[in-house]
Amino acid sequence: MSTRVDEVAGAGIAVRFDAKRCIHARACVLGRPGVFRGGVDGQWIFPDEAPAETVAAVAQQCPSGAITYRRVDGGPDEAPPAANVVRLRENGPLAVVADLRLGDEPAQIRATLCRCGASQRKPYCDGSHLTSGFVATGEPPARTSSPLSDRSGPLQVRASANGPLMLEGNVEVVSGTGRTLLRTQACALCRCGASASKPFCDGSHARVGFKGP
Ligand code: SF4
Ligand code: FES
Repeated sequence: MSTRVDEVAGAGIAVRFDAKRCIHARACVLGRPGVFRGGVDGQWIFPDEAPAETVAAVAQQCPSGAITYRRVDGGPDEAPPAANVVRLRENGPLAVVADLRLGDEPAQIRATLCRCGASQRKPYCDGSHLTSGFVATGEPPARTSSPLSDRSGPLQVRASANGPLMLEGNVEVVSGTGRTLLRTQACALCRCGASASKPFCDGSHARVGFKGP
């Protein structure tokens, strides 16, 4: 797996690509093919091929956070969302869009986190769910919860040793189609792949001997 990190600066925006975060969802190359050129050797990002606002909008569609940017023309940088959301991917990872504080890492906004247990770069998804036979609905039953008085603010996510992802902060867990599953200020999400109540941890990680830093 590539660990390449590229930053390409254009006149209005500098685009950064972190290869180890990419899950190949292709929002970039499908969103603006002239800017993000798939299947080429060497340079593949050309920020000046579209207005900076357009490049920024496409970058924000990158679910994994592999693509980030900084404006060099005085335009606004990406801001945390008005509502922190964790969305389930059918048979795939957790897609987070939040004012995310993941472990000791700098604040970030978009990330895809492993929930199959097989990723080689936990807590991030590396696409292993595609080959590990992971099966998990994107439309599980909802839990009873009340609307949050504040839906934003820092969302702390900590991968507990050999256990679940521990979330603290205002967050809405939603299904693949956006249906509310839980509104909460604290929860534990399964990352071993074995819970019978996915996406929530039910303690199965101990039974299956899950190992995860
Ligand atoms: S949108 Fe992001 S995750 Fe998807 S292919 Fe492009 S860089 Fe990778
Ligand atoms: S992490 Fe999967 S059941 Fe706890």
